[in-house]
Amino acid sequence: MAIVIIRQDGKTDMWKEALLAADPNLPVFGYHDDHDPKGIKMALVWKHPKGSLANYSNLMCIASNGAGVDFIFEDEDRPKHLPITRIVDTYLAADMSEHVLALILANLKHLEHYKVDQFNKIWKPLQYLRIADVRVGILGLGTLGQVLANDLVRFGFQVQGWSSSRKSVEKVKSFAGPDELSDFLASTKILVCLLPLTDRTSDILNKELFEQLPKGAYIINVARGGHLVDKDLLELLDSGHLSGAALDVFHQEPLNQEHPFWEHPKVHMTPHYASVSDTDSVVPQILENYRRLENGDSLINLVSKTKGY
Ligand code: GLV
Repeated sequence: MAIVIIRQDGKTDMWKEALLAADPNLPVFGYHDDHDPKGIKMALVWKHPKGSLANYSNLMCIASNGAGVDFIFEDEDRPKHLPITRIVDTYLAADMSEHVLALILANLKHLEHYKVDQFNKIWKPLQYLRIADVRVGILGLGTLGQVLANDLVRFGFQVQGWSSSRKSVEKVKSFAGPDELSDFLASTKILVCLLPLTDRTSDILNKELFEQLPKGAYIINVARGGHLVDKDLLELLDSGHLSGAALDVFHQEPLNQEHPFWEHPKVHMTPHYASVSDTDSVVPQILENYRRLENGDSLINLVSKTKGY
């Protein structure tokens, strides 16, 4: 019984070392290491090459190495009967929240704008917004969304969230389902997307949705590039309906050099780094599930295959 790590971002050895540091006897292999595919029971994956999981005939579990699992569902050749798990981690949620808070505060105080003015030696104070006057709307009130919502409330923002089912988060107005989306959007000044990427949420950040936001709304997408219709965002930024957008995730990563986002003055880009799984914090839950597989116990952090998250 062994674990294989399948990822293509140069971090395989880092994860292998972290797992071995926690349990030096753990049979763990990188996808490119010499190993017997028949002995592999758990695959720890992050954007694995499609089809690679089909090599493992005795696999018992597909474990996402991050919070998202969209890339697993996109692999049509995966063994579809297997349970899928994901990472649920306090650092992952806290890091995401800190990233979004930093973006929102920078936006309220026009920090990006002043950096450009500084380069151009322009001295021109703008009117700024106060936290108490700003309503932030979070699309997706799951684990990450709820931590962000609580932090925003603590900071003094007005906060509301939209999700498929109604959620109860103190001081956060909860909107649920397609019927309540328009009301949610109409009162949102800063829109944060933290939805899981599924068939139902793909392309949700589109022209029709943007047009329901008040003029001057600001978009933050820290979920997946697949949520956003890029050309619709560009159109609404250029028309002046949206004041700007902060994007951490893209359809193609790294984003291709020709993409208009790179040079767009109203787009603030970061390289999918808002929240990255921390080895020390995450290794125990991977080992926990590995032990549970060994003992035939039910797994933690299971993904619902019907919901897709
Ligand atoms: C990051 O994007 C994750 O899904 O953990």
